[in-house]
Amino acid sequence: MTQTGKPHPQTRIALTVEEQAWVAGEAGHAVRRAMEIVVALAQIYGAERLIPVASVQISGVSYRNIGAAGLDFLRQWADEGARVRVPTTLNPAAMDLEAWREQGFDPAFAAQQQAVIAAFSRMGVGEGSPIPTCTPYLLGNIPRFSESLAWAESSAVAYANSVIGARTNREGGPGAIAAALVGRTGAYGLHLEENRRATMRVEVHVSPQTISDYSALGAVVGKVAGARVPYFEGLSLERGAPLWEESLKALGAALAATGAVGLFHVAEVTPEAFAGRVLAQEHETLVVTDLTPGYAMLTDAAARPALVWIGCPHASLAEITMVADLVRGKRMRLPLWITCARPVKAIAIAQGLAAEIEAAGGRLYADACMAIAPVRDLGFAAVMTSSAKGAYYLRNLAGVPARFGTLEECVDMAVTAWN
Ligand code: F3S
Repeated sequence: MTQTGKPHPQTRIALTVEEQAWVAGEAGHAVRRAMEIVVALAQIYGAERLIPVASVQISGVSYRNIGAAGLDFLRQWADEGARVRVPTTLNPAAMDLEAWREQGFDPAFAAQQQAVIAAFSRMGVGEGSPIPTCTPYLLGNIPRFSESLAWAESSAVAYANSVIGARTNREGGPGAIAAALVGRTGAYGLHLEENRRATMRVEVHVSPQTISDYSALGAVVGKVAGARVPYFEGLSLERGAPLWEESLKALGAALAATGAVGLFHVAEVTPEAFAGRVLAQEHETLVVTDLTPGYAMLTDAAARPALVWIGCPHASLAEITMVADLVRGKRMRLPLWITCARPVKAIAIAQGLAAEIEAAGGRLYADACMAIAPVRDLGFAAVMTSSAKGAYYLRNLAGVPARFGTLEECVDMAVTAWN
């Protein structure tokens, strides 16, 4: 690739010869439109050049969220010959693409949701067979340290930046599609070294015991941090210890939900923290002594859950194993749904975990996210979840009352159903 330094006519973005040809429409209308979006975003955020990305992760998959207009937009792009240029994965849909009837989805809604997936398939997402999930990094799609990405799902962005040390901003829906079509994004934000230093030191004087506790910690810190980069000190988490990745997955998801955190560091755990000097000279300090407010701020005390939801972000096999251990020998009185990626579900079935959970009355659903599903239409007026992000989205985006508790409390709720 030759960098000519020649700026785009209406911008100061330096484009390569190949990129200039794409802007001129030499690779077709879809690529030209994608370049217009990528260049416009780069310009807005002050980038001076575009950078190649190793992979893209697209959000805006739920038909409940994008509606008929969004589906038309995707179909039109697919009709124009839009095809992804780099490995690209999809965020969850509203429903399990196979078991949606069992979940209670209306066939008309299901047909539209399937049409959204079909449009992405035609664009070559997931090599034509997309696996909708917010945890692509659990499926072997593990980015490399310092690799540039264009990912859209906020929890996956936080994980990729923080736990892996890859580099991505949080792309918007159309921006991520455009990045996939040209394999480029603007060099701004978290792609730049100077923006990856921590601007908030978080002294943790409490010991999170569970994955949900890490979620609660993320909720507390995210609310204060906003878009700053937190640096956690005092956590007893060890890299490589059981559930360390799940704990950081929960922490990052919550930080990105109650705040807009795209990157965090944990002393002696995350890769850039190992390298030292990640704390900016000018920083604020936050001291956390109690996780209770994290649970309380995301709980509607009067809510009477009709559904218990686990798997936000999508559950790993270890988390599904924990649920199977907790429900063994019990009988659920409320529906207990675990959401995960389809390959993870397949392994859980093969290992007998799904059968154990189903024997207790629970269900494992692939592809789906309940925060972007028409939960009320499914008959659930309130939901309990072990995820701060899940509770935040249910309450603030879906308008569904929620309770946030530990995995044990969630299982207890499903078993006792308020009795
Ligand atoms: Fe994933 Fe949905 Fe939670 S996209 S992170 S399961 S809100």
